[in-house]
Amino acid sequence: MARLLIIVYFTSAFLSSFVPVQGVDRGNFKTCQQSSFCRRCRAMEPSNSAYELLMNTLKVETSSIEAEMINSRNLVTFKFQFFALTDGTFRMKINELNPIKPRFEVQDALVGEPLLEKLELVERKADKISIKCGSNIATIIAKPFRVDIHDENNILISANARGLMKFEHYRLKVPQTDPEEGEPDQVPVINDIELGDEEGAWEETFKSHHDSKPHGPSAVAMDFSFPSGESIYGIPEHADSFSLKSTADTDPYRLYNLDVFEYELDNPMALYGSIPLVLAHGVSKTVGVFWHNAAETWVDIKSKGEVTSGGSVGGAAAGMVSSIVSFVSGKAGSDDGNDAGGEPKGRPSNIDARFMSESGIIDVFFLMGPKPQDVSRQYAKLTGTATFPPYFAFGYHQSRWNYNDQDDVKSVDAGFDEHDIPCDVIWLDIEHTNGKRYFTWDKVKFPNPKEMIDHESAKGRKMVAIVDPHIKRDGGYFLHNDAEANDYYVKTKDGKVYEGWCWPGSSSYLDFFDEKVNEYYSSRYLFNNYVGSTEDLHIWNDMNEPSVFNGPEVTMPKDCVHAGGLWEHRDVHNAYALEHVKVTMDGLLRRTDGRLRPFILTRGHFAGSQRYAGVWTGDNAAEWSHLRVSIPMCLSISIAGIPMCGADITGFFKYPTPELFIRWYQAGAFQPFYRAHSHIDTKRREPWLMGDEALRLVREALRTRYSLLPFWYSLAREHETTGVPYMRPLWYQYPSERATFSIDNEYLLGDALLVHPVTEAGARYVTVYFPGEGKDVWYDFFTLEKIPGVGNVQIPVTIEKIPLYQRGGTIIPKKERIRRSSTLTQGDPFTLVVALDSKGEASGMLYLDDGKSYEFRDGKYIELFFKFAQDKLTSRVVNANSQYTTKERLEKVIIIGMAANFTRAEVESQEFGKMIVDSYYDDQSQVLVIRKPWVNIGSSWTLQLLK
Ligand code: NOJ
Repeated sequence: MARLLIIVYFTSAFLSSFVPVQGVDRGNFKTCQQSSFCRRCRAMEPSNSAYELLMNTLKVETSSIEAEMINSRNLVTFKFQFFALTDGTFRMKINELNPIKPRFEVQDALVGEPLLEKLELVERKADKISIKCGSNIATIIAKPFRVDIHDENNILISANARGLMKFEHYRLKVPQTDPEEGEPDQVPVINDIELGDEEGAWEETFKSHHDSKPHGPSAVAMDFSFPSGESIYGIPEHADSFSLKSTADTDPYRLYNLDVFEYELDNPMALYGSIPLVLAHGVSKTVGVFWHNAAETWVDIKSKGEVTSGGSVGGAAAGMVSSIVSFVSGKAGSDDGNDAGGEPKGRPSNIDARFMSESGIIDVFFLMGPKPQDVSRQYAKLTGTATFPPYFAFGYHQSRWNYNDQDDVKSVDAGFDEHDIPCDVIWLDIEHTNGKRYFTWDKVKFPNPKEMIDHESAKGRKMVAIVDPHIKRDGGYFLHNDAEANDYYVKTKDGKVYEGWCWPGSSSYLDFFDEKVNEYYSSRYLFNNYVGSTEDLHIWNDMNEPSVFNGPEVTMPKDCVHAGGLWEHRDVHNAYALEHVKVTMDGLLRRTDGRLRPFILTRGHFAGSQRYAGVWTGDNAAEWSHLRVSIPMCLSISIAGIPMCGADITGFFKYPTPELFIRWYQAGAFQPFYRAHSHIDTKRREPWLMGDEALRLVREALRTRYSLLPFWYSLAREHETTGVPYMRPLWYQYPSERATFSIDNEYLLGDALLVHPVTEAGARYVTVYFPGEGKDVWYDFFTLEKIPGVGNVQIPVTIEKIPLYQRGGTIIPKKERIRRSSTLTQGDPFTLVVALDSKGEASGMLYLDDGKSYEFRDGKYIELFFKFAQDKLTSRVVNANSQYTTKERLEKVIIIGMAANFTRAEVESQEFGKMIVDSYYDDQSQVLVIRKPWVNIGSSWTLQLLK
């Protein structure tokens, strides 16, 4: 019977991927009401917190304070720790003082142990303590427990302000009393009057899946108020607006890595990735909260303008906030929160996020900003910056489930050359393997993989092959045999190897929480193990939520166990994909002794995944709404620390109209990861198969993308050194401009380009918001014309038009010769586009290295800073002792917004001394072009304009 059920499940999951899109089957996924811990957490009443710090146990150390905490209702005790960290960051940890078994603490999201900072004791009283670190003060109030973090004037974050903290301690299960058998022989350690034993707390059934919960209820929750916030963002992955919505009338946003077939838009359902980070933004401050927990998590959001009885603005909560204000201002009973017209001197908190996790501990990082860039840096210091992408990663990727065989790959490759379209990577989906046995090749269809990859390499192209974490249970498969023999698989609660269904049929899942497994798995990537692979084969880790077709909610049962039974899957679920890509990275590094930079794409993701991989937004559809949602989805992922993000270009399911096809290529050209991908059951759609107009316009979009690769690559350098994402919301650069807070149909690349893709069918115009309140000048990227207007401006569009603008005050490096692949442009000359601001000035940067190795870490790179002022363009090498040299030259300088005519320029460099070159001015468009300065681009030089 069980076998029959499994077959039915598998068949339906498998077949459903061939059936036209119907929309998500919501019944497959839990609502908060169907999740016992979410229900319990949500049922709590605000302003009734049971938690107190026992101030007589308080210890103040150099960088931390520690005290015991008690739940006054059930007398359970906890250990409370509060740390001052470098760069305006605090950490708070709360764990059971004496748990009956250790509680899981997340591994590997952090880049290392966070650096401590010395704290200063500001005040210590019987009921509270204040410590200072940097410019922020944290006040910890004993009863009811609360933490307020403020600067000189205002509270910025308040934890447990609404009193919704919860910490369900581990208890022993009370066996049901059977009158025949007398008293149960186990009694609970503490009879918990707070938790009760309501349905679902000790075991839970969803559809046909039973969760045995051997450790009982173990939820943790905490609310965070942001009095200076006006909008709140983050907690990807959701197919929803960028600015988070109030969840007062909906389910909370759910963070639980799931393979959601045909996901729906505009709702808070879980998706493939989970990053428990929120950013609260207001005109003067941006702060963040990172909830360091890998268990299933639901997040309730209260956002601006919401007035509910339990909310932050109305009723009891408003009173509570004004008491925070009183505390900060020192004026008992004062209510100066709403100074008319003035900005938030303690205005009531409109913004609030409440995290509720099924297990683990409370471990929170407070990122105190104050600017968005500061929060990005602070978060990057904790979880790391992205792996530095090889240059080709920013090129175009051509994928499909599946390219049929080697000849197919070759003919697709030839198609790009024939149609004069650049392409860097061709992808191989699951069908390239021998029966979904990863690290193998289908011997008939791909008899000579090395020769196939070499064929691509010869044109500077690469390949990517898929490697999923499920392993086919097949006695003829070496990986399965090794895993069985060495105990590499995740186990069931009863200690048997867990079996689920995925692409290969019956599968088991490697336990990446076990070091010995990782050592083995990473060695699979070595060239002599992964026969047929070469340096130019990179990796795609898919289905790593993990996806289990017949599992509860299409994933692994929560009572499965990892690391020899140390942890339940419940504890670690959201970090499974992180561990998967971590090991893949390790393997790819091993294969070249750490010499070459790998490229990895992952579907499942968590905090820290950026150190190993980029992500894409999974199985979208060829619909305009899916094109539109790719922007907020990638913005959320970007501000949550993963800058390499993209969506399947033209949609995975369904077939696009030619118009949607063109628009998607145009939009994707300005998203970090640019890959076309489609479902096995849809018609082929390489760019030359969609008609002449599509071919021409796709080619143009791709050529524009390729011309900007030096700019993208320089953004990667900026991210590496500062943590800022490539793709940014407008408020990130214009934090005090309220009109930008809700915009998610346009965004910035770096601080230089404004992108507003056309995402509506038949559009004749788009309304572009030009930020800067008139202080910034914007130029059309293609026509170089100045935009006459600020704020919302209607821009007429034809099918040719990509609304893309350069900000005056920036300098963008380009390469205008487009070749078959990015690798082949090595050695080509550069163009600098200097867009002048209202003062006639501009600045920018360029980063150069070999584009593929880690030698940049030994100084083999050049970072250049460009400045234009007083009619002179200056290039300065920032890293004076650079070990990198280039032969590449500066071919052209284009100065836009130039009011005066200059006929010549004097170029001065060490190599050539002084030289005069010609310039050409067009007074109509106010564009000055200086041709062939021909200085070495990797050097310091000046270019003085002459009349
Ligand atoms: C699911 C992925 O999301 C999709 O991109 C891929 O084509 C299929 N798995 C098959 O591997």
